[in-house]
Amino acid sequence: MKPDYQKIISNVYADILKKPNSGKVPNYIPEIACIEEHKFGVHFTDLGLNNFGCGNFQEKFSVQSISKVFALSFVYEKLGEKLWKRVDVEPSGNPFNSLLQLEADHGIPRNPFINAGALVICDILLEICENPKETLLEFIRDVAEDDEIFFNEKVAQSEMDHSYRNTAMCNFMKSFGNIHSKPNSVIDLYCHLCSIEMTCEQLSKSFLYLANGGRKPTDRRQILPYLKAKRINAILLTCGFYDESGEFSFLVGLPGKSGVGGGIIAILPQKYCIAVWSPKLNVKGNSYRGMKFLEEFTTQTGETIF
Ligand code: DON
Repeated sequence: MKPDYQKIISNVYADILKKPNSGKVPNYIPEIACIEEHKFGVHFTDLGLNNFGCGNFQEKFSVQSISKVFALSFVYEKLGEKLWKRVDVEPSGNPFNSLLQLEADHGIPRNPFINAGALVICDILLEICENPKETLLEFIRDVAEDDEIFFNEKVAQSEMDHSYRNTAMCNFMKSFGNIHSKPNSVIDLYCHLCSIEMTCEQLSKSFLYLANGGRKPTDRRQILPYLKAKRINAILLTCGFYDESGEFSFLVGLPGKSGVGGGIIAILPQKYCIAVWSPKLNVKGNSYRGMKFLEEFTTQTGETIF
């Protein structure tokens, strides 16, 4: 029998609200540090386009690393399998901004969702697009079917002002020949990618192509071939939560992606997408309440990819 998603979401939401909200809002991006930490939103959309939300699900927040999934989708579709010569598909087991493995791996990032991998994806975008920022926004607005999606220039600028690690990574990869454009241009595009703002509702709707074998369930347009959607979901499962990917898989059992803005998107292929936002992060940089909510949600629905 189909679970009563709406009832389960409302109940789990109410339960989580009663419990302490642990974790910390990250302070390294000043524009994000000032967010109200009690915000909590959830939005669910299934492939039949049934959808419902709880709490602050219509409020925009900085999606940060979640937008790396859109950038990967666009670049993978354009480049095909040769993309994997420049970025690998293995979990890193390290924090998202770690430089540790890059030397041993000769400048090839472990996967497209750690910062090094996303920087390579941005470098490719610069190579293949005339106006990469506009192209990225167009792609996201297209899959979201919503033109009200923008970069937050203040967030992008504040990240650029503090991008010493990302710049180091970019220069290091350039020394191995795995960054082709000027590091400054790559960093500018990367910081803009991270600065995109969306609501939980926009996120759960825009990820439906990945729940539906690459095809949008609304107008039936194929955004990615099935094989590519399958592979992106696989990377989301193994690498979507940095060095907490195993834990997310263990507790929640869905492919997904987090961002330091406190958002998480999770996908049950062939069924639904669910987005959660709560800004306080656990020590691994993933939303504390987001993880708790999704763990309880999949436990109560009795559905995971396993
Ligand atoms: O590069 C940075 O520091 C951030 N903009 C990373 C974004 C992010 O969400 C990483 N992960 N959780």
